[in-house]
Amino acid sequence: MEKPEQLIIFDTTMRDGEQSPGASMTLEEKLRIATLLEKMRVDVIEAGFPIASPGDFEAVKAVAERVKDSTVCALARVAYEDIDAAGQAIKPANSGRIHTFVATSDIHLEQKLRMDPEDVLKQAVAAVKHARKYTDNVEFSPEDAGRSNLDYLCRVVEAVISAGARTVNIPDTVGYNVPEQFAEKIRYLMNNVPNIDKAVVSIHCHNDLGLAVANSLAAIHVGARQVECTINGLGERAGNASLEEIVMAVRTRQDYFNVDTCIDTSQIVPCSKLVSNITGFPVQPNKAIVGANAFSHEAGIHQDGVIKARETYEIMRAQDVGWDTNKLVLGKHSGRAALKQRLEVLGAQFNSAGDLNETFERFKALADKKHEIYDEDLIALMTAVGNESEDEHIQLVDLKVTSEMGTPPEACVSLNIDGETQQASAVGDGPVDATFKAIESLMNSGATLKLYSVNAITSGTDSQGEVTTRLAKDQRIVNGLGADTDILVASAKSYVNALNKLLQGSDRAHPQLSTV
Ligand code: KIV
Ligand code: ZN
Repeated sequence: MEKPEQLIIFDTTMRDGEQSPGASMTLEEKLRIATLLEKMRVDVIEAGFPIASPGDFEAVKAVAERVKDSTVCALARVAYEDIDAAGQAIKPANSGRIHTFVATSDIHLEQKLRMDPEDVLKQAVAAVKHARKYTDNVEFSPEDAGRSNLDYLCRVVEAVISAGARTVNIPDTVGYNVPEQFAEKIRYLMNNVPNIDKAVVSIHCHNDLGLAVANSLAAIHVGARQVECTINGLGERAGNASLEEIVMAVRTRQDYFNVDTCIDTSQIVPCSKLVSNITGFPVQPNKAIVGANAFSHEAGIHQDGVIKARETYEIMRAQDVGWDTNKLVLGKHSGRAALKQRLEVLGAQFNSAGDLNETFERFKALADKKHEIYDEDLIALMTAVGNESEDEHIQLVDLKVTSEMGTPPEACVSLNIDGETQQASAVGDGPVDATFKAIESLMNSGATLKLYSVNAITSGTDSQGEVTTRLAKDQRIVNGLGADTDILVASAKSYVNALNKLLQGSDRAHPQLSTV
């Protein structure tokens, strides 16, 4: 067999993934994710859309400062001010990339941009040339390429390569394609764009029909050499192609794809858990590679086969994707230095002894309630400490819930609201309902509860419950997170966290909903 060619892994969890409703990440959370992605040896990390807000700009810049081995990429529409912000944000990176894009499908040209195709082509070329003033590493995407006219697409791709794009990314923005058709489009571009050999052909597939991974793999099979994907398949609507599925598919079936990646697959599960914790999007148990059931064998006949010879029913080993990285790490008697070292491995950075002291206090309190502390507990602890920022308006002070069979549960909650402690009680259909009603009677937020989910962070009855509460108000959606060994306390914390996020407001621009 020929030597496998390299497939470039471009992770967009912190950009396209962050566009999922409520999945927005703080600067500190982005740094933790970037640290693990770098450790996993992802080639390119798309860290955000710097023009969206000053906070987004700072987050991309901080990632560019922190990451040393992966390329750090920033997204920009074709407007010069977007490109200038992206260029400034990636300046500190050892290796930085600007990714600029504009839509090319008839429907986007006519309905969204209301522009002539020739003018769009000129804008794309000008944008690439402008981006080249900041870096040689420029990527261009014709948005909605999956529904664009192929001959126009060929002309745009040829023109942006001549202008200096070193990667051309073909997005199936709305997840409309099917595998053979998408592969055929990639093949057509590769055969009909005269200078295509001067650029890496990339793909970026959305999962609206559940085909993002299949479409990406079909394109890789015909020659695409960069794939854009996200951890856990996080992303707009039904998500993006999932990194873990693509990496394991090409590794397990190298005989078919004849490509390989630089990914250290043992970091896949830790990274999946981190992203799930930070965004509050749980991973479904039957999700390939990173779902809790992905390597467990229920049926007796399968278990018998696996015991005799693993290969009878397993095509990958659980430990190769990091399932046994979740060992017991710390306990009640662990000291400050051990905690610091472990948290740094998980992507935390402590700028002052004060920062560590606070985290250490929280760790000790947790270790009193739960004797065995796993990486997952530490991840939840860091997210909780990060969530309790100084500009928080509301804090949970106390919660008492009474619940007895046959009588409606009652919750009595005490909140610190802008420095003043206030109490309220409420009855509800269940203890969680009573708790949320008690909080609402103090806050009157007017928000609508869109989702409430509880997940056990580790196994065992002393596990912490991790609760996500999604609230919507005035076109905004936020996810609140809370973790505690008592799931009612975790629920109250997550509700309060969501309210704090709503109160903090947001003036971020969405890259694909505006018409620059
Ligand atoms: O889906 C898409 O088209 C995108 C582009 C910005 C690359 O995310
Ligand atoms: Zn996308």
